[in-house]
Amino acid sequence: MNQRSFITITNQNDEFSILDENTPLPSGWQKFSDKSDLETCITFLQNTWEEKGNQGRCPISFPIQGVDYKGLEIDSLQKELLRLKRLLWVKPPYGDNAWLVSNFKEVRSVLRDDRFSRQQCPFHNESRLTPHPLDTSIMGLDAPDHTRIRSILDSLFSVSASLALKDRVEESANELIDLLGTPSEPIDLVEEFVMPFSGLTICEIMGVPFEDRSKFRIWLDSFSSTTLLDADQVAENMDAMHAYMGELIEIKRKNLGDDLISGLTRANEEGKLSDKELLELITVVLIAGHDTVSAQLMLSLFVILSDSTLTQQLKEDPNLSNIAIKELLRYIPVDAYITFARYAKEDVVMADGTVIKQGEAVLPSLISANQDPEVFENPDSLDLNRSKNPHLMFGAGIHICPGGILGMIEIKAGICSLFQRFPNISLAVSPEEIRFREGLQVRSIYELPVYLKK
Ligand code: HEM
Repeated sequence: MNQRSFITITNQNDEFSILDENTPLPSGWQKFSDKSDLETCITFLQNTWEEKGNQGRCPISFPIQGVDYKGLEIDSLQKELLRLKRLLWVKPPYGDNAWLVSNFKEVRSVLRDDRFSRQQCPFHNESRLTPHPLDTSIMGLDAPDHTRIRSILDSLFSVSASLALKDRVEESANELIDLLGTPSEPIDLVEEFVMPFSGLTICEIMGVPFEDRSKFRIWLDSFSSTTLLDADQVAENMDAMHAYMGELIEIKRKNLGDDLISGLTRANEEGKLSDKELLELITVVLIAGHDTVSAQLMLSLFVILSDSTLTQQLKEDPNLSNIAIKELLRYIPVDAYITFARYAKEDVVMADGTVIKQGEAVLPSLISANQDPEVFENPDSLDLNRSKNPHLMFGAGIHICPGGILGMIEIKAGICSLFQRFPNISLAVSPEEIRFREGLQVRSIYELPVYLKK
């Protein structure tokens, strides 16, 4: 592997960062030391910080490339930390400084370790990329509250319940494909297929009127916004979403059905879930179940259609295996940088010797863990037959995604149905012309124009 060179930079607020030597200096920043490898840069900065008597810490601004991304790239700092197998004390755009955890073993151990807490976040200035600390419902709890709510959710969202949805999900994909017709002009797959498909599925499961889907887009963006919306706009949109969900619960109460909201409302009436917990939970399930699936599906289609060998493979056999879907999940960095912060409830010694002190934050990065060469052979290549693939795209530990199986069913149905119906589907522009959306934590694209040839 070619070792890249870095320089250290500083600004007038005494903040430090590291830049790839080929990256232009951001405005307000100046060069602090000459180029060297990342490890030397980090050590140099740590020593400098110590000399300044400031806790021996070097809070390097993260992400070093800024929050926006141009494609599927991973922040160069994270890639280097993987190689060095070390943690780094970073300064995220909002909230407390934190330990950035990048390699597979350490990320998984943080997620599985109950000494790291989500429930402590409100007692700190939560370390994050979004202007507003998010109300993450179940994702913001530790045991025993988490166990109680998660068992209610799991009873409604079991593996068998998810698998039972497979036929209906495939049917929805085909119904939406019927509506596309066979236009000779390019169509935008994001607007005309991916968003309505993932919206229809989550609406049916939850019992949310699909006609209301135009409202959801801004709510999804609010939850994921880094720079797209400011804190007030996010708070306003979240209030609007809670008001909408509150009204929906009241309508359901009068006539409970067999959808997810009815099931959770029943649990609320049986005293297992408070009113506030019910409202926050259904809000988070709608967002989590819509946003990540649509992003993963549009990016999977983008990756496949950008590669003529993959497109040909799908044309010859449109039935992607679960192994292939898992590899798309590993390969595509849907979470742009990190997942939710955790706070240490006691001092924890990590494998590289770093001591995370009680009350300090950690930022686990699922996407860099999924690129760890110690676990994934040739991590940079997409290998749709990769047999050993313990990817962390659904997380690990108590918060592991309850919608993972459903998500995989949807992604598979979306890709396979399109290729079954349109074996000659092709991109209508070059892959370089596809623009990634800016200011959002969940990676997605504005448009995916394609020709739908039979
Ligand atoms: C490609 C699709 C999906 C991906 C990549 C994904 C990813 C994740 C990840 C990484 C977490 C854990 C985050 C952490 O520990 O910091 C999570 C949690 C969660 N996801 Fe998903 N998810 C997907 C689909 C879904 C779907 C379809 C639903 C629901 C319909 C869903 C609902 C949830 C919920 C409720 C949690 C919180 C669980 C808890 O705190 O116990 N997700 N998801």
